Amino acid sequence: MSSLFYLNKYLVKYKWRLIFGSIFILISNIFAVQQPEIVRDAINKINQQLINRDPSLIEGIVWIALSFAGFYMLLSVLKGLFLFFTRQTIIIMSRFIEYDLKNEIYNHYQRLTFNFYKKNSTGDLMNRISEDVSKVRMYLGPGIMYTFNLITLFGLVLYKMISKNPELTLYVLIPLPIMSILIYFVSRVLNRKNERVQFQQSFLSTFVQESFSGIRIIKSHVKEKDVESRFAQEAEKYKANSMSLAKTNAFFMPTILLLIGISTILTIYIGGTQAKNGVIDPGEIAEFVIYVNMLTWPFASVGWVTSIVQGASASQTRINEFLNEVPDINLNEGVDATLKFDSKITFKDVSLTYDNSGVTALQNVNFTLHKGEIIGVIGRTGSGKSSLAYLFMRMLDPTSGTIMIDDQNLAEVNLDSWRNLLGYVPQEHFLFSDSIKNNIIFGAKSDQITEEQLIQVAINSGIHDSIMNFPDQYQTLLGERGINLSGGQKQRLSIARALIKKPDILIFDDCLSAVDNETEEFILQAIRNDLKEKTAIIISHRISSLKYADKIMVLDEGQVVEVGDHTTLMALDGLYAETYHRQEVTQDNTPDQ
Ligand SMILES: Nc1ncnc2c1ncn2[C@@H]1O[C@H](COP(=O)(O)OP(=O)(O)OP(=O)(O)O)[C@@H](O)[C@H]1O
Ligand SMILES: [Mg+2]
Repeated sequence: MSSLFYLNKYLVKYKWRLIFGSIFILISNIFAVQQPEIVRDAINKINQQLINRDPSLIEGIVWIALSFAGFYMLLSVLKGLFLFFTRQTIIIMSRFIEYDLKNEIYNHYQRLTFNFYKKNSTGDLMNRISEDVSKVRMYLGPGIMYTFNLITLFGLVLYKMISKNPELTLYVLIPLPIMSILIYFVSRVLNRKNERVQFQQSFLSTFVQESFSGIRIIKSHVKEKDVESRFAQEAEKYKANSMSLAKTNAFFMPTILLLIGISTILTIYIGGTQAKNGVIDPGEIAEFVIYVNMLTWPFASVGWVTSIVQGASASQTRINEFLNEVPDINLNEGVDATLKFDSKITFKDVSLTYDNSGVTALQNVNFTLHKGEIIGVIGRTGSGKSSLAYLFMRMLDPTSGTIMIDDQNLAEVNLDSWRNLLGYVPQEHFLFSDSIKNNIIFGAKSDQITEEQLIQVAINSGIHDSIMNFPDQYQTLLGERGINLSGGQKQRLSIARALIKKPDILIFDDCLSAVDNETEEFILQAIRNDLKEKTAIIISHRISSLKYADKIMVLDEGQVVEVGDHTTLMALDGLYAETYHRQEVTQDNTPDQ
């Protein structure tokens, strides 16, 4: 329960809606409890007319009935009107809070780091912002509304009943608590079954989604039949769960109706006996029957609301857990944001061990990147090249050692301003389902990118010609419902996205691997010309990508094993020279590269 206290700040924020909503519920119920008295008076009046054998009998009865009915309807309209106001205030309040909470969660998502996203699955993250927030909203809207409704209505009805006939009150109320308890237990069973259905449903949709994304693999491995039968199995489970839920549901309503029936029979029986003894008049029996029926639904809602609150509390616990997650990279938001890079970046004894895999990706790495210098990094797969880029971007902090920007520790500078200096092309690129133009200018620092700037960047990245060949050119849509780019086109688009920012430092993580040698040469030249004073780290498997590097570092199993320019490294006759000879041979044999 206490997890829900977190939401109190929002209840305070929307306190006026809550207060007015509560007042409206009270007013609506005050109108409602007048209605049984009208029925009672009508019955008693008509009864008297019949006993008195009044000559104007028929006409009198009609008028009495009509006037009471009119009054009754007026009260119904007023009651309904205030119920409408209640929903307009409390339910709308819950929608506002839902909106705020989703924004709060989403903003928090944006602040969290690499490690967090590695630890949590996308499905789980999606659920917190959709399912869990929906459950919490059920507590804030219907939960609060029905609880307050029960309290006010029960108070008012009880007052009316006791002030008229305490004995009858006692008897007719007996079944109601039993009903609440029963509903509470049934709701729990229902909730559990419902969750099972939901779980299976999300499993099914993930399964279907994956089989669509992987349709080419499925077909090429001729696995259609296997996938079909797996789907049928899971769908069967879903059906079984749904049927079980439907059965419990079917049992639920008749039970409630039975209990209401028992209450009504008790009222009529005990009321009838009292009427026979002259203790009460017949109208009062009818009045009590209506009271009992009025209380039924609010009581029935106790069980339901309890399970809503339980569900919301579990959801809010999950949400809180996540909101309390502190980004493991200190963003240094308070630090001066006017970071400048004047002379050099130094890695001092930097090591990195990944928590989850225990892999030591980098070990005692030392190097200095001077302003205007290009460093090439080469090494086998898994040697720690991408890890080096993550550290540089400060996606991760080193396990030990320090990275210095001029004379400031990277861990202490304002992170946004540091990343603003960098143009990073990751090894695994990602394109949004948007136009080519928007995908490129996503990287820009300002919205004011001219058409010329866009085209210039595309030309430098060697992608302009390909774009002009698409029917919609820069407006061509990418992604699921758009067109697919080839691997090399995607890489070049990613490069354009990094270049449009005009960064001070470029980091290329193996982003020329899917382009041919000629295009690679063109891009490297263009970058060199366009970005005269450019500082860069170019990571690659291919020696050809490093030909403009002032200095090349060779990584092996997380350690820098060789450093120097091409000639020095060749003279060392180590790993670099070996790689060079191997690649030279491969290239000679593949003339179309
Ligand atoms: N997020 C991660 N969590 C755990 N271990 C990781 C993670 N990323 C990389 N590793 C491990 O760290 C080591 C270095 O990986 P890294 O990605 O830096 O290699 P790389 O040199 O970029 O390889 P490639 O040339 O294939 O891109 C590998 O053993 C890898 O399994
Ligand atoms: Mg890599």
